Amino acid sequence: LKVDGKAYRTIWVADDGASVAIIDQTKLPREFAVASLATLDDAAAAIRDMQVRGAPLIGVTAAYGLCLAVAADPSDANLARASDLLEATRPTAVNLRAALERMRGALERVVPSERAVVAWALAAELADEDVAQNRFIGQHGLSILEGLRKARREDRPIQIMTHCNAGWLATVDVGTALAPVYLAHDAGMSVHVWVSETRPRNQGAFLTAWELAKHGVPHTVIVDSAAGHLMQRGDVDIVIVGADRVTRSGDVANKIGTYLKALAARDCAVPFYVAVPSSTIDWAIDDGREIPIEERDADEVTHIARIRLAPENSGARNIGFDVTPARLITGLITERGICTPSRESLASAFPDR
Ligand code: MRU
Repeated sequence: LKVDGKAYRTIWVADDGASVAIIDQTKLPREFAVASLATLDDAAAAIRDMQVRGAPLIGVTAAYGLCLAVAADPSDANLARASDLLEATRPTAVNLRAALERMRGALERVVPSERAVVAWALAAELADEDVAQNRFIGQHGLSILEGLRKARREDRPIQIMTHCNAGWLATVDVGTALAPVYLAHDAGMSVHVWVSETRPRNQGAFLTAWELAKHGVPHTVIVDSAAGHLMQRGDVDIVIVGADRVTRSGDVANKIGTYLKALAARDCAVPFYVAVPSSTIDWAIDDGREIPIEERDADEVTHIARIRLAPENSGARNIGFDVTPARLITGLITERGICTPSRESLASAFPDR
């Protein structure tokens, strides 16, 4: 994505070749700021405090975190410690664990003195892989949007609803759920995106709206609870969301509120798609109820910009994700094409897994 005419990824190796640059997402949309990660602890804090977020970007940031760790100390003990520290930052997105397993597997096979070189090369490969997968997801998703456009009689824009941020900012580049939207817009198709604000951290209102605006895509921010109403009125043609973890049978964990959108979509016969790079599929589990659900500090619910919204003595919970059962999902848009959310369909698209 371009910001003020300059193309950026969300994470890159800094000019010094020894630190990592990220776009600090806690500052958006007020300020576009680049932050520097110089140590393992910087990388772990960036993931934990959500300076970077979104499943694919969390995975790649963890990979770079391991680079910073082994550059400082390539011993077996430090590799294990760094990997455990990074893995404990956020529990739901499986990309984190997958990236760490790949990095650790490769690094354990080489002598400590060679680890830093191997780590930087593999992290760059993971970043490039993410971008390539997202481009394919964009193409496959675009064919769905083209199908919708052909099926319509009226001339209004294709109305796409999304949730949270599964765009450029959630990945290294391009995005997952928003990749088809960008391709459609660039191809001259008239599209409009309903952006649900995504309480409590407002990734929709702060991040999705910001990046859609940067790319010139028409969009409207709504409160989360308006989604069902819009679907009921016929104002939504398709819902496309991202995922933090998909089980091998197609259950999808994504930002809290996704399940309610899927229920409303089913009631209103609106197709509900999930954009899923294979790095987000957890081949080890079948049932979405086994997915660990992050619960963050309740202060994110009771306060906004440090102003308390809820009464002093009211308790609160801040449940970060929910699981949408496969039966409510029309299709999974993967880099290898569109799968039905079932074990058979995923296994036939990914026989290697
Ligand atoms: O808590 P976040 O902002 O990391 O949650 C992000 C999401 O729920 C995204 O939809 C998901 O990670 C997919 S990103 C391509």
